[in-house]
Amino acid sequence: MVGTGPYATISCMKPYAITVVGGAGIVGREFLKILDERDVPVGRLRLLATQRSAGSTVEFRGSTITIEETSPDSFAGGDEIVFLSASGDASRQYAPLARDRGAFVIDDSSAFRMDPAVPLVIPEVNAGAMASHSGIISQPNCTTTPMVMALYPIHRDNPLRRIVVSTYQAVAGAGAAAVEGLRTETTAALAGRHEPSGTQRREIAFNAVPQVDDFVEGASTKEETKMANETRKILDAPDLAVSATCVRVPTFFGHAMAIWAEFERPVDPAEAREAIATMPGVRVVDEPGGERYPTPVDAAGNDDVLVGRIRADSSRPGGIALWAVTDSIRKGAATNVIQIIEEADRRGLVGPSAPR
Ligand SMILES: NC(=O)c1ccc[n+]([C@@H]2O[C@H](COP(=O)([O-])OP(=O)(O)OC[C@H]3O[C@@H](n4cnc5c(N)ncnc54)[C@H](OP(=O)(O)O)[C@@H]3O)[C@@H](O)[C@H]2O)c1
Repeated sequence: MVGTGPYATISCMKPYAITVVGGAGIVGREFLKILDERDVPVGRLRLLATQRSAGSTVEFRGSTITIEETSPDSFAGGDEIVFLSASGDASRQYAPLARDRGAFVIDDSSAFRMDPAVPLVIPEVNAGAMASHSGIISQPNCTTTPMVMALYPIHRDNPLRRIVVSTYQAVAGAGAAAVEGLRTETTAALAGRHEPSGTQRREIAFNAVPQVDDFVEGASTKEETKMANETRKILDAPDLAVSATCVRVPTFFGHAMAIWAEFERPVDPAEAREAIATMPGVRVVDEPGGERYPTPVDAAGNDDVLVGRIRADSSRPGGIALWAVTDSIRKGAATNVIQIIEEADRRGLVGPSAPR
């Protein structure tokens, strides 16, 4: 047994004092589950939320943890890792406070993703970017991660020039309330009633809504610009052309996307399949003859990015088309964060003597 804290497990990682802001949310709860699944030792665990969840309890490794309301006083010191998984506003308010008190902060919101001083990290792709951190690391949007993971194994030898992507995003990507919203809307719709829950921009049951997040300039949505800008930052490819259409669909878990990609040199689909299959964290499920391809149901509850339907883009000689799915709350959020913690530990980036 390694570690001395109440949640120590068999692992060579130090049992850090961890605080999760948003610990009652869908990502926060999955984070706790994955800490367990991966045997991550935990020295002390605090779960913070708003007044709404304060006082409710969560069981973790045999202990009962009471969720506390977040305030600036919550970050008085003593945290080695703070995972912010609440909202952009909460991150903007609390991340600098936690960092200034010595915590290694990982942020799940979009607040700092495009800040040049903040690494934006998918460990399998650009773990090296963590070396330049100054206390805060961002993790990408839940649609950016699977797209980058699927294309990176080709891009690293043959740089990407252009991506066109259309997403089919599950409601879990919009948080716990949105999951409940789809459930209640579906029940009502099956009884012949239209009762929008207000958790999406339109009724989502038996519908498809081409708006995820607010509209920004150029008639795109924030989600679409996030996919473009974050991909360029992670791949260090400032000139990469990306056109995204992000659509919310009535699935509970598992974001899917159809991707069309062009690289500097033509790509043969068989070579693409081979390269993608070598990528850690990606599993190719692609056998048209046997009607084998991944669906959101296959991705739900799993960590892998599943890739199938790899074929030539019939509209662009040398380009490829493919289909990718992943669980937005796991590799799209909580799993990626735990991998960042594991990588930070290996690199000695956490703790008072860590480089800043
Ligand atoms: N869901 C995904 O697939 C996904 C993927 C990638 C990134 N993210 C990001 O992860 C974050 C959390 O998302 P989620 O899906 O877990 O949402 P969620 O299920 O709605 O949970 C949000 C959690 O944050 C807490 N919270 C909200 N505002 C807060 C504030 N001002 N101060 C302290 N706590 C606050 C909530 O507290 P109460 O419980 O008291 O309401 C709740 O516990 C968001 O930034 C989201 O953009 C989500």
